[in-house]
Amino acid sequence: MASTCTPSTLILLTLTTFLIAQAQAQAPAPSPSGAVNLTAILEKGGQYTTLMKLLKDTQQLTQIESQLKSNSQGFTLFAPTDNAFQSLKPGALNKLSDDQKVKLILFHVTPKYYTISDLLTVSNPVRTQATEKEGTWGLNFTGQGGNQVNISTGVVQTQLNNPLREKFPLAVYQVDKVLLPLELFGTTKTRASSAAPSPKGSKSTPEIPSVGKAGSAPSDSPKDTNAANGMNVGFGLVLGLGFICMGALS
Ligand SMILES: *[C@@H]1O[C@H](CO)[C@@H](O)[C@H](O)[C@H]1NC(C)=O
Ligand SMILES: *[C@@H]1O[C@H](CO)[C@@H](O)[C@H](O)[C@H]1NC(C)=O
Ligand SMILES: *[C@@H]1O[C@H](CO)[C@@H](O)[C@H](O)[C@H]1NC(C)=O
Repeated sequence: MASTCTPSTLILLTLTTFLIAQAQAQAPAPSPSGAVNLTAILEKGGQYTTLMKLLKDTQQLTQIESQLKSNSQGFTLFAPTDNAFQSLKPGALNKLSDDQKVKLILFHVTPKYYTISDLLTVSNPVRTQATEKEGTWGLNFTGQGGNQVNISTGVVQTQLNNPLREKFPLAVYQVDKVLLPLELFGTTKTRASSAAPSPKGSKSTPEIPSVGKAGSAPSDSPKDTNAANGMNVGFGLVLGLGFICMGALS
């Protein structure tokens, strides 16, 4: 065994150590799995505190963030500013039931990623996340020439403003009006009756789809694990050679 600790073994040992160090340097830093942080996007926008509160109160913030990981079509969010909420009729939000608040928020979300140019030519009405037995509540978009898009609910009409984010899987566009659905804020008799708060005793829990554990799943990627395994093998080799040398020297 004495011959094991030859200069060539020492060179091999050094070389292996060097290769491991290099592999370690090249290993990609563990990324936060590229998850979209909607809170960060809206906070950066600086004028969406009411929207963020509503998104949180209705649990839709976590819903959207977790669904972004699984929905291959992406999402588009139309984000009303704080001013937009302030210019609503007093009490307009408070008189909504919890279920209706959820619907109102979902009406601002489409289960598909749209760029501005998509919206210029999209066919109306565009499906939103707000659904009920009678069907899905839709938004209408009309191109105004150039890059200008108007958005209409049947109750309000406004222009799409600067994107806060326009990158798959999530687009977020500022709107200066709260998008009031016809189904909740329409003026006809039938609509008005359907907008009435649900009577006591009827189901009043918001229809929030279950989130499951998707949001809290550990984010170790297989790549990281493989890299770690490779490194372990390398260290084992160095250790082994080192022990052989030490044995030879003693
Ligand atoms: C998202 O961004 C907010 C604000 O920047 C931050 O407080 C929060 O920790 C972030 N969440 C995740 C999951 O990174
Ligand atoms: C939206 O567009 C569709 C199709 O053009 C039309 O039938 C519907 O009335 C429009 N709705 C509103 C609220 O403008
Ligand atoms: C588009 O929206 C703007 C702002 O709300 C409005 O002034 C304009 O008349 C709209 N254009 C059309 C064609 O509806």
